[in-house]
Amino acid sequence: MSWMHSQVLWFCGSASMASALPVFLLCLVLTDSEAFKPLKPQNSITHQEITETAVLLKTTEVCKAVAAKERRDFVPPKQLSVTSVQQACSPSDAGLTGAKFKASIVAMYTSNAAVDVAYVLSDRHHFDRESFTDGRKLITEGMASVKANIQQEDFIPARLTLGKIFHTLQDFYSHSNWIELGNKRPNSNLIRPDLPIGNLADINTPTCRSCSEGNCRDNILPEILKEGKLTSGYFSLLSSQKPKGKCSHGGLFDQTSRTDPVGGINKDDFEADHGHLHREAANVAINATMELLEDIRGAAGENDFLRLMGITRSSVLCFVIDTTGSTSDYIAEVKKLASTIIDSKEGTDEEPSAYILVPFNDQEVGELKRTTDSNIFKVQINIITADGSGDTAEMSLSGLQLALTRAPPSSEIFVFTDAPAKDVHLRSTVIALIESTKSVVTFLHFSSQLSPAGNDLYQELAEISGGQAIVVTKATLPQVTDIIVDSSTPDLVNILQAVRNPGRPDNFTFTVDPSVSNLTVYLTGSPLTFSLHSPTGVSQSSAVTDGSLGSVKAVGNLNMVRLNTQTGLWEIRVTSTQPYSLKVTAQSGLDFIYNIVEMSQGSGTGFIVKEGRPRAGRNITLLLSVVGGDSPNVTEVALVEVSGSGVENGTIEALGDGDYLVFMERVPDDEFVVLVKGADSGSSRTSTITFQRQSTTRLRASSLAVTALANGTMEAGIPFSIPFSVTTNGMEGNYTVRALDNRGFISSFTTSLVLSSGGTAQGSVELQAPDSTPSGTDVTLTVVAEAPGAADFNYNVLQLSVSKCNALQVSVPLLIPLALLPALWT
Ligand SMILES: *[C@@H]1O[C@H](CO)[C@@H](O)[C@H](O)[C@H]1NC(C)=O
Ligand SMILES: *[C@@H]1O[C@H](CO)[C@@H](O)[C@H](O)[C@H]1NC(C)=O
Ligand SMILES: *[C@@H]1O[C@H](CO)[C@@H](O)[C@H](O)[C@H]1NC(C)=O
Ligand SMILES: *[C@@H]1O[C@H](CO)[C@@H](O)[C@H](O)[C@H]1NC(C)=O
Ligand SMILES: *[C@@H]1O[C@H](CO)[C@@H](O)[C@H](O)[C@H]1NC(C)=O
Ligand SMILES: *[C@@H]1O[C@H](CO)[C@@H](O)[C@H](O)[C@H]1NC(C)=O
Ligand SMILES: *[C@@H]1O[C@H](CO)[C@@H](O)[C@H](O)[C@H]1NC(C)=O
Ligand SMILES: *[C@@H]1O[C@H](CO)[C@@H](O)[C@H](O)[C@H]1NC(C)=O
Repeated sequence: MSWMHSQVLWFCGSASMASALPVFLLCLVLTDSEAFKPLKPQNSITHQEITETAVLLKTTEVCKAVAAKERRDFVPPKQLSVTSVQQACSPSDAGLTGAKFKASIVAMYTSNAAVDVAYVLSDRHHFDRESFTDGRKLITEGMASVKANIQQEDFIPARLTLGKIFHTLQDFYSHSNWIELGNKRPNSNLIRPDLPIGNLADINTPTCRSCSEGNCRDNILPEILKEGKLTSGYFSLLSSQKPKGKCSHGGLFDQTSRTDPVGGINKDDFEADHGHLHREAANVAINATMELLEDIRGAAGENDFLRLMGITRSSVLCFVIDTTGSTSDYIAEVKKLASTIIDSKEGTDEEPSAYILVPFNDQEVGELKRTTDSNIFKVQINIITADGSGDTAEMSLSGLQLALTRAPPSSEIFVFTDAPAKDVHLRSTVIALIESTKSVVTFLHFSSQLSPAGNDLYQELAEISGGQAIVVTKATLPQVTDIIVDSSTPDLVNILQAVRNPGRPDNFTFTVDPSVSNLTVYLTGSPLTFSLHSPTGVSQSSAVTDGSLGSVKAVGNLNMVRLNTQTGLWEIRVTSTQPYSLKVTAQSGLDFIYNIVEMSQGSGTGFIVKEGRPRAGRNITLLLSVVGGDSPNVTEVALVEVSGSGVENGTIEALGDGDYLVFMERVPDDEFVVLVKGADSGSSRTSTITFQRQSTTRLRASSLAVTALANGTMEAGIPFSIPFSVTTNGMEGNYTVRALDNRGFISSFTTSLVLSSGGTAQGSVELQAPDSTPSGTDVTLTVVAEAPGAADFNYNVLQLSVSKCNALQVSVPLLIPLALLPALWT
């Protein structure tokens, strides 16, 4: 990739630059000329559809093979959708919505689309200009990198790289004359590094003649077709960029197609010069994509292939444990609790696929331990001893930070401690990690008081993540077992969350749909009272622990209510003058995922995932998908402030197959979540039901922007520099920068930047992976910039992959980000 392409992207995102003519042209090029159209436009078959179709077909095949091996029946999906393939693959597991499967597919196709933005003028990424050897090199090196990633269980970079190489592979069928040569099958040698790609036309061989009167069907020279010579179109903004007699790509912005030989050969859509072959090219591209996936399956094995696709259920249990001397009193209880939780999941569908342990004390953070074996994990927990001096504050944020960088995104992380954080300077970094990984953090804070010192910060972090900060004692700890077991249920959905800080009495309503079971209300805060009001008008006060509406359990500052599930509109009336937070969750097969995306200009074009916090006062676009249910439709999407009544309604555009684009004119000022309401026909099919869901992780706007760009490939043993820039439309002053990565490869970075109001400043992060670093090791780099006084901050996250031998750089830095990570890990 090159800097220039990113510049293009940058300018295109900024409307004020669009009047500069060359940039304007480039913007249009981005949207209009290259490849199968990345989004779904007028009936043409897009990169997105080709990718999604190939993944669904190949995954179905693999599931069928696995079922046969296990001597299970396999009922093929009736139609090809994420929900139906998920159900066919895991029939006994009705709770699986396919949310993670969908998130993986979205990660692949947004990464695919990003190639058109980041590499718009790069020939080899699109097989333009007869760059067959270089194009294939991208594909085969990418495949090697994907296989290395899978071996390291790094599925996220693997998905992003797959998306990128799918783009190049799929373009071959649109941009070369493979289809015109009469081929009905994929060119299998494009996914092998060693075999000839075909009979390639050399640079001096003319391949095309001018189209006659706008009809380009016969513009490829007959001798080229007769001799079976492979060629591809030239594409450039300058007409001089084409050797004599060569074919052009064609289309509005390809200037080479204006000069002799006039016209082009691309099959990007039905209106293209060779649009009559569009469908055929797209179909072969689907098969080619499946062939590449088959190769990955062969190397990875079926289990890892299904994990890569995000279709198999697996979660990680992560404990971050304070081991200072003062905790010796309760550490035995923590061990018992851990054991109970592990046992309760063992052998069930909900058995974690891995366990992570991070010990910390008042001086340092211990080594992170990760295992897939529950017995080893129990041993690791059991040998923890509490010792050391009794400082009054601990390195709890350092421990949490380590867990957040090493656990897969969307993990459940439990922090056990008996003291406030000592390392509060890590607050913004920890929040950035929570936002970008969408992991849920629950604190179990040992104290005899209901509002112990330091709990405010734990409360804040927990709330941002959608978790709880529960104050416990040695005696009450066993009572939170349920909470931990429940909150690590894979098909957990969020129905409502709200905060009142400062506290005040308020009423909250939420809609419960029939797909929901195990409806649970969590109210954290003390003192408070509340009453529950059912859809049929029955009420129950918090003083009644076992009533007709449900049972109430109080542990420390937490009230947990198990509601008897009843469909309809519920209400909770809370009375308190102290800060409190409310969360309603359930188990359901109907859920949604979303990403904040940026459209490249124009309509019917590609979109890229936006990393970091959205900019204050600006509009944003969400790419949102509902999964599960029975063809549910989204009717309302809003950004709702968790602490008040501020709401921004979105304008919804349905893209089909449960995908929606939602345009928001502005972002709320305060912390917010995404609220989705919709209609589903319900399993009975007799009546339409309405449902409501909310996102778990809280977001907030920032007046800062952090952009970072990796130029080139990170190789083991070689220093690597990543430049970044920080822009503010807020306060001037000395901004603090923090950079961290999940591998400890950072050697130094710019730690502060002086910014004027509206200004931009540059810095860099220096990294070096040790010589022994295995190829395919993922590196997640987070760069946080904090305004003076820490009132505001923003961040950027880059996904890199270490290579040994000049393999592919995994991320298109600006473009392929951890924001994808949401529900995306297997
Ligand atoms: C990226 O790297 C290339 C070659 O290493 C160099 O020529 C170019 O200036 C770099 N671009 C940036 C923005 O650093
Ligand atoms: C969204 O904001 C950008 C500037 O940030 C502006 O150029 C664009 O027109 C806005 N879009 C709409 C639809 O208002
Ligand atoms: C493409 O794949 C489909 C489904 O596997 C198969 O039926 C068809 O024969 C393949 N076509 C080609 C041209 O390989
Ligand atoms: C909550 O609802 C009750 C009953 O309708 C009402 O009396 C009360 O004023 C409401 N409280 C708030 C804060 O709206
Ligand atoms: C609800 O939770 C209980 C225990 O927490 C569990 O036994 C039960 O299976 C759950 N119900 C459903 C429908 O998952
Ligand atoms: C948002 O939409 C909802 C439902 O359509 C409506 O009740 C509400 O008034 C709207 N809010 C704003 C601020 O437009
Ligand atoms: C959702 O929309 C589709 C297409 O508009 C329609 O066929 C279907 O009945 C709708 N489903 C519900 C539950 O309204
Ligand atoms: C900015 O702050 C850092 C650390 O707080 C300090 O080392 C640096 O000198 C400051 N820079 C300026 C220009 O004041």
